[in-house]
Amino acid sequence: MNDWWRDAVIYQVYPRSFADGNGDGTGDLTGLTGKLGYLKELGVDAIWLSPFYTSPLADGGYDVADYRDVDPRFGTLADFDEMIARAHELGIKVIVDVVPNHSSSAHPWFQEALEGRNRERYIFRDRPNDWESVFGGSAWTQVADGQWYLHLFDPTQPDLNWENPEVRAEFLDILRFWLERGVDGFRVDVAHGMIKADGFPDVGPREGCQVELLEQERLPYFDQDRVHEIYREWRPLLDEYDAMAVAEAWVESPQRLARYIGPDELHQAFNFDFMMADFDAKSFRVIIDKSLAEAELVGAPTTWVLSNHDKYRHVTRYGSLARAKAATLLMLALPGSAYVYNGEELGLDEVLDLPPELREDPAFLRTGHSRDGCRVPLPWSTGAWPNPWLPQPERWHAITAEIQESDPDSTLNFYRAAIRLRRGFGGGILWLDAPDGVLFFRRGDRQVVVNISEHPVPLSGNVLIASGPLTAGGELPPDTAAWLG
Ligand code: NOJ
Repeated sequence: MNDWWRDAVIYQVYPRSFADGNGDGTGDLTGLTGKLGYLKELGVDAIWLSPFYTSPLADGGYDVADYRDVDPRFGTLADFDEMIARAHELGIKVIVDVVPNHSSSAHPWFQEALEGRNRERYIFRDRPNDWESVFGGSAWTQVADGQWYLHLFDPTQPDLNWENPEVRAEFLDILRFWLERGVDGFRVDVAHGMIKADGFPDVGPREGCQVELLEQERLPYFDQDRVHEIYREWRPLLDEYDAMAVAEAWVESPQRLARYIGPDELHQAFNFDFMMADFDAKSFRVIIDKSLAEAELVGAPTTWVLSNHDKYRHVTRYGSLARAKAATLLMLALPGSAYVYNGEELGLDEVLDLPPELREDPAFLRTGHSRDGCRVPLPWSTGAWPNPWLPQPERWHAITAEIQESDPDSTLNFYRAAIRLRRGFGGGILWLDAPDGVLFFRRGDRQVVVNISEHPVPLSGNVLIASGPLTAGGELPPDTAAWLG
């Protein structure tokens, strides 16, 4: 079996914001094709594309109206074919998103349902229960004839009814469609969501909103045991094409997450605990140990991720670029695969001051929290993106890819060097004694030091790479990491 994904660096492309091939302000597939050389030079093994399918873009494309076509704003199927062919020529694998929990309300199936036909493809009820949408408010919306439909996300994202064999067959066919076009894998959106508890029981009164309970208890609409039947149905198809799949599943414990992985289910699951960890040695250490132990249980390496299109960029979460680069060097030294979010290699921070009228995230409209700030188009060069769909902040003019290209000390060149050097790591990790606030471990013949304390740390060994300058005396300053070998 081809298990390239086990220690891969996988680069997430948010197509709308990555690169604009036709100058209309929205990123597209030809823009991506034009940047594959850049990604090759960055050294990534694979790209994962967030949705580029036909969509009203009510939730950035996670509201799919046609699962087998490209939205005209992103290009055409021919552009996709050209992109994947070029990626494969360069030795870059391609993973696409599949969104099975819900479709767009613009999908022909839901349009039919609104007309009163074939409603059993979705979840219609005469009365709502107390389930809440992840984006805030009730998870039910009433239609003209009085029935209610379920949407765990925005009302424009009606949940599909996975108890209906027609839905199951349709998705097997959708997977095959993209496998036939050559994709190497799938990222499964809301992989914990498709099966709802029998009888649709109320959650019951709780303090705060239901989504906050996700990490403590099982909600009747997430992580139901029978969701695994679906992956057991998908796996033979994935195997037929030697393809992998990674689950986006928010569940209450690493043990529950591990259940999504295995020789008859999916290959990987995102390890969001690492992304949610504080910039703190203890917090990182606990999560690394827990994740590695769980990975061992299921015989599949874990994944590491610091930023994606749903969370504040890690430069902003940790408060500085220095800390972000130190965390990146930690992530890239760990066994398993690492997911890099487009723009983090430029050191981009979150754009917090976008005017409210430009924000598009449906969660913003319902809860006041917005994910638009990590979706601002990438600064390739000054003037490269004449009319970006979200405005780029002035400060990014100093850190365009073009400027960073020729600066040996740039964040971009740091990522390139780290990704290249990462290939020299092998084996598991062995923790070594270290002062408080310092992470220190050995992997094979290399050592990794991450200084999250307030004091410089002496280093002994040859420094292969550091996330920032050492002190004049050759010590590792606070908020800095190094690999020694
Ligand atoms: C998870 C995706 O990452 C997020 O962007 C989206 O809003 C929800 N799933 C709903 O599809």
